[in-house]
Amino acid sequence: MIEGLPIRYVDRGQGTALVLLHGFVGSADYWERIVPLLEGHFRCIVPDLLGHGESEAPEGPYTIERMANGVADLLDALGIEQVVLLGHSMGGYTALSFAERYPTRLKAFGLVHSTPLPDDEAGRAKRDAVAERVLREGVRPFVEQFAPNWFAPDHAKRLRTELARVLEIGFGTKPQGAAGAALAMRDRPDRGQVIRSSSLPILLIAGSEDSIAPPAKAFAAENGHTVKRTIEGAGHMSLFEAPQELARQIASFVESL
Ligand code: MLT
Repeated sequence: MIEGLPIRYVDRGQGTALVLLHGFVGSADYWERIVPLLEGHFRCIVPDLLGHGESEAPEGPYTIERMANGVADLLDALGIEQVVLLGHSMGGYTALSFAERYPTRLKAFGLVHSTPLPDDEAGRAKRDAVAERVLREGVRPFVEQFAPNWFAPDHAKRLRTELARVLEIGFGTKPQGAAGAALAMRDRPDRGQVIRSSSLPILLIAGSEDSIAPPAKAFAAENGHTVKRTIEGAGHMSLFEAPQELARQIASFVESL
């Protein structure tokens, strides 16, 4: 339950609890190629975030903090005190907010194709336009226009099945959920300090070809114990573009804890 509302989550495997958060207009299904590679080693808990997938899309306003609280609520419901928390893109913004609010509930955390930096002024204006558009037209035209750009250019041409799957997952997002999440991302603060001041192990993963969170943004904050990894050739969607490599990096980080 999040805020008393039902949420959908995947819970597979045993061992160290690893919570995996999806990005904007994604769902737990964003991790469907990664969980089978990790569930033999760890307990993978993968929710549909507020407003996404089959979880509820209640009235706004949505905030990244509200999404992080939802993750805490899920852990409470499952009776799990401490986890390793990794988030893809918007899920990374949520992981940082969680790390700021509930550091004692983390063994470690990480961002996958995400950034601690806030939106700049132009970025914030684009969020307003996205929120307005998805409420007016539904999510489909937005997802059809932008999802190909989330893949590295040659992957968008070659990985047709993977791109089709990302589109299909995106189409399942409720307009109210997508609009709320766009405005939540618009309003997120700079959380570089969460990384710089944390004593926890932190994993930062970037895609060399990511046009949304390129390595300079993905690695914008670090401290002495940050593990930085670049997946060569991947765009913003290594979960689909390079699942073996992403799962290998995650497993090696979690096993090192
Ligand atoms: C995502 O994948 O979650 C979004 O691209 C993040 C963003 O737009 O900042």
